Amino acid sequence: MNSDRPTDQYLKTLKLYYEEEVEGEAYFAKLSERLQDPDHKEKMHLMALVENYAAAAVEPLLQKYDLTPRCAEELRVSGHAQAQNSSIDWAQLISGMQKTFPGYIGDFERLEAMAPPADLPPLKVLTAHEIAAIDFLEKEANGDPDSGAPFLLWD
Ligand SMILES: [Fe+2]
Repeated sequence: MNSDRPTDQYLKTLKLYYEEEVEGEAYFAKLSERLQDPDHKEKMHLMALVENYAAAAVEPLLQKYDLTPRCAEELRVSGHAQAQNSSIDWAQLISGMQKTFPGYIGDFERLEAMAPPADLPPLKVLTAHEIAAIDFLEKEANGDPDSGAPFLLWD
């Protein structure tokens, strides 16, 4: 028995979370496009970049296990559609994300708990990008002029 062999649940979740980051990048890129305020546009653009970074960190694991994600174009269309249907009221956007994002930390930590140790470095990037996003949201909600600072680590 090979104790390093990950479970199907791990592999399925890994693929799903990768897909969600690709979708998220498209979502934030479209939100950035729809918003009017240049500062808000820039912040959602940064969020899209961080999503891209998170997806890119995890992508080698999909290759390692020969997992085929849903096609990028399909994910992009889906992300754009979600942003098209979203409110672009800034305060609502921020408070909505403040409600949903903390749940992803638990999801990512559960993924880490299922992972073979060798997979942990990229998975920690995934968890860290969510922590940075939550930090940004909190600062933004508090009117901190340096709310974008958590994203600087990802440039
Ligand atoms: Fe994300």
